[in-house]
Amino acid sequence: MKRNILIHPDPRLKKVCAPVADLSDELRTLADDMLETMYDAPGIGLAAPQIGILERLIVLDCIKEEGETPRPLVMFNPEVIASSDETNVYEEGCLSIPDQYAEVTRPKVVDVSWIDRDGKLQQETFDGLWSTCVQHEIDHLDGKLFIDYLKPLKRQMITRKMQKLKREQARS
Ligand code: NI
Repeated sequence: MKRNILIHPDPRLKKVCAPVADLSDELRTLADDMLETMYDAPGIGLAAPQIGILERLIVLDCIKEEGETPRPLVMFNPEVIASSDETNVYEEGCLSIPDQYAEVTRPKVVDVSWIDRDGKLQQETFDGLWSTCVQHEIDHLDGKLFIDYLKPLKRQMITRKMQKLKREQARS
């Protein structure tokens, strides 16, 4: 089932999310719903707080080429356990901040651990777009958005645009 994606500014996007204690069918369904919502948007990552669920769960799939096999990842309690000194700049966007993009600098390579959909502990090294995406999504679990890395003026400009968008959506 597709879920509604919250648009910034929303207090739920600023909260630190709680760790997932036990994997349940309910949580697996939530993860499946998040993947469906992400692919439909379309996007390459989605965090639970973006649909108003304040739990540490993200989904991602950075395979974008037509014809390539999709690689949906479901991560409960994801954690960056090591990051490179070398950095990388990507133009980032966010499904909660539609049509706004800005360059963000992050560590180029990260080691991430998480609990997968089957409850197994996983660990993997991510580079390139996958690295940027997984860091962006984990940030969401700590109430942090990519615009928080920008200069205040630019951040305020984007926030005002989003407030206007929400007013227009409320009216229609
Ligand atoms: Ni985002």
